[in-house]
Amino acid sequence: MKYSAEINKRKTFGIISHPDAGKTTLTEKLLLFGGAIKTAGAVKSNKIKKTAASDFMEIERQRGISVATSVMSFEYQDHLINLLDTPGHKDFAEDTYRTLTAVDSVILVIDSVNGVEEQTKRLTEVCRMRDTPIIIFINKLDLEGRDPFDLLDELESHLNIKVRPLSWPINRGKSFKGVYNLHTHDLNLFEANKTKMSTEVVSFEDLNNPVLDEILGADADQLREDVELVDGVYEEIDREDYLSGKIAPVFFGSAVNNFGVKEMLDTFVELAPTPLPRPSTIGLIDPYQEKFSGFIFKIHANLDPNHRDRIAFLRICSGKFERNKFFHHTRLNKEVRFNNPYSFLAREKSRIEEAYPGDVIGLYDTGSFKIGDTLTEGADYEFQGIPSFSPEIFREVINTDPMKSKQLEKGVRQLTDEGVAQLFIQQPGSKKIIGTVGELQFEVIRYRLNNEYGASCNLVPKNFHKACWITTSNDKQLDEFIRLKASEVAFDKDDNPVFLAPSAWMLQMAQENYPELKFHFTSEFKTSSEA
Ligand code: G4P
Repeated sequence: MKYSAEINKRKTFGIISHPDAGKTTLTEKLLLFGGAIKTAGAVKSNKIKKTAASDFMEIERQRGISVATSVMSFEYQDHLINLLDTPGHKDFAEDTYRTLTAVDSVILVIDSVNGVEEQTKRLTEVCRMRDTPIIIFINKLDLEGRDPFDLLDELESHLNIKVRPLSWPINRGKSFKGVYNLHTHDLNLFEANKTKMSTEVVSFEDLNNPVLDEILGADADQLREDVELVDGVYEEIDREDYLSGKIAPVFFGSAVNNFGVKEMLDTFVELAPTPLPRPSTIGLIDPYQEKFSGFIFKIHANLDPNHRDRIAFLRICSGKFERNKFFHHTRLNKEVRFNNPYSFLAREKSRIEEAYPGDVIGLYDTGSFKIGDTLTEGADYEFQGIPSFSPEIFREVINTDPMKSKQLEKGVRQLTDEGVAQLFIQQPGSKKIIGTVGELQFEVIRYRLNNEYGASCNLVPKNFHKACWITTSNDKQLDEFIRLKASEVAFDKDDNPVFLAPSAWMLQMAQENYPELKFHFTSEFKTSSEA
């Protein structure tokens, strides 16, 4: 296994959270520990607090081709850590779901005041579909948040995962005193400090040591009681159970005060998986196999009209990527090579000569990539498991400038290939229906069609409830369904039939009337996603 030393060094993960739980703040602190940045405040939030397209455009313009914030690589201890950024805004959830296909584990941030929130649930569901290992960071302990035991109960019941605290908070809010590390038996005393790591750590193998009372006063007994309860109620972490996504270690802290973050990072590098195998059309692709492979999970457009190229993000799954070497683009059945591949170490975008499994690199693209495309060293297979999820808002594209119909066609195709939205084609007449999870994307689409392609259109609302991918072994029943429901059936980018159900009730009726058709809320067709 030629590249095993390189592979074993790497940990590729993402941070997920409901907006405002503290993802950006935690990212910054992790980069601080990794030496990738020197001072706090260096990570510009890329989230969009207001749902205005103009804000989004402004942020995108400022970011321009500098996509360094999409991947942040840093070294910590002997590890090379690749942190993939996920957009905070809920309208871009689909982008986050896809990024999750390129990570090997996640850190989930929970706001201790709000507990489990809507996006927390959705994102965890996506992780659970792939059994992605999860570490949980309960943040904002400096605020008057909820009782830690209640929070743990809520995590277990709402997220369908077992939890095991590895650190325990001593009080919270104004009287927050610190955390006790249940793993290393260290007591870490809280001091609000936004730029440095906390240093006041006292080792307490035995919590009955009277020094604990001197330090914590009346809180010492409460800590003893809590720790006894935790040890009695929660089972020990079994690494295999963590790796298969069954149990999540939990840490408590305050990201903005840089507190409790190092404990979590140290455990993360110890527990989190090195690059994992990925499912493909020919079975699992092992990262240690010598032949190169990888897939595109994100495409970042350049909004500067003078530089129309895009950057495609490639997750390397096996073998070694080399600059200027020919690789096989399996969808196009074409050999391609890259003169200027980029990596993002220490937030510097720099040209690389080679890269290994777990790495994410940026490739300049002039339009030959779609989300989900596979590159190999010659073999003909494709990576799987980069699903589309049912959009929630649908609009039909009506051309308003007949002279520019070609441009509109091209623009809609390219934007949907980039994953900005999903495209469904409806017959007769090849009507284009665009589906998104948020209103913001429609503004982005309209703006970009106009600015980048010179096309203009109306986006007419369609009253569909969900898009459900249809599978069956009864082709006759499918044909009949497609014929009778022509106005509610469309085809996705890969020509799979999709039922655009007008309402939950109509979906239920279809299920009852066509028992041999299966309707799925994601294009991955897992039984768990069945409607
Ligand atoms: P996000 O990326 O998950 O959306 O959250 P982000 O890190 O931007 O944090 C959201 C808000 O929560 C920020 O405040 C941030 O400072 C605050 N925050 C993060 N961690 C903690 C913590 O441990 N304790 C407390 N009390 N607050 C925390 P903001 O007012 O929205 O922005 P800013 O002006 O402070 O940057």
